[in-house]
Amino acid sequence: MKRIGMLTSGGDCQALNAAMRGVAKCIFHSGEDVEMYGFLEGYKGLIYGNFRMLTPADFSGVLTKGGTFLGSSRTPFKQIREPDENGLDKVEAMKQNYYKLRLDCLVILGGNGTHKTANLLRTEGLNVVTLPKTIDNDLWGTDMTFGFQSAVNIATDAIDCIHTTAASHGRVFIVEVMGHKVGYLTLNAGIAGGADIILIPEIPYDIKKVIDKIEERNKNGSKFTILAVAEGAISKADAKLSKKEYKEKMKNYKYPSVSYEIAAKIQEKTGYDVRVTVPGHTQRGGSPCPYDRVFASRLGSEAGKLILKGEYGFMVGYKNREIVKVPLEEVAGKLKMVSPDASIVKEAKLLGISFGD
Ligand code: F6P
Repeated sequence: MKRIGMLTSGGDCQALNAAMRGVAKCIFHSGEDVEMYGFLEGYKGLIYGNFRMLTPADFSGVLTKGGTFLGSSRTPFKQIREPDENGLDKVEAMKQNYYKLRLDCLVILGGNGTHKTANLLRTEGLNVVTLPKTIDNDLWGTDMTFGFQSAVNIATDAIDCIHTTAASHGRVFIVEVMGHKVGYLTLNAGIAGGADIILIPEIPYDIKKVIDKIEERNKNGSKFTILAVAEGAISKADAKLSKKEYKEKMKNYKYPSVSYEIAAKIQEKTGYDVRVTVPGHTQRGGSPCPYDRVFASRLGSEAGKLILKGEYGFMVGYKNREIVKVPLEEVAGKLKMVSPDASIVKEAKLLGISFGD
């Protein structure tokens, strides 16, 4: 008999349900006697003992559904060791709920913060297997995360739609793409959507270079310019500030987001009409694309295989076109970022795309 607990934590994304279905199908089909429990709303469910038993019916018809049927929430790792408002020790509570249900392991689906807590639970003696979800594709130890390709599709669609109207009006358009710390989504959607300028957190920009590119396009007869700007794009000047100085600056920040600041600067210096579009959480919504359905199903079934073999303490990831198991201690606390020297960046530059650097 195997007793398995499952939860989805952090910001949701497409293919969470597909990944859980992959795990469940593999285990239910193995013929092993199994009890499966779903904890509701991420670690919150594990802390407060909110769970329900899951049967094969729960995983039927969910392959194509976005979101997560277990619900999700953010439980910041920084506060995990702090007691809750009623003095409850959260880590101890999670352990007690695990032991009460006599679980053999927890399957945890999440991104960076989630993996830190998953690794903590491992060091506390719980058996854990994780799956890499996030539209940011910024998890260490895996070349790909599920949700990413679906989000690239949506952000690309947004840029495609903006293209036609930008061309009609001869305007400068900024499409703000999700990603506060890491620019994979902006980089890929930017290239796919034919953006002229791509600004990502890993490559600080100089507003003069951004404007030069717009003027150059104008001189060459292109009366519109499209910028794909990551939520966390940062100017060279701001990148030089210490964390404390930057925080201080942001206290009095008058723009809704960095894109509006860039738009204001371009407008002020050039007089061009600039508009900002923010697809926001649509990038995390809707059905998973076929790539993510296949990818999440593969990862899920491989996680199921590990559980059946009793191999715990791993994230199931993807490296060099192979599904791999990565020790959790190698994943937790590390961010996978776009290298400014990556070949994809160099190739984008060969296409004439400016990074404002
Ligand atoms: O980590 C996924 C992500 O969608 C980021 O790209 C984005 O910056 C953030 O979550 C938004 O978080 P929230 O949904 O909590 O506003």
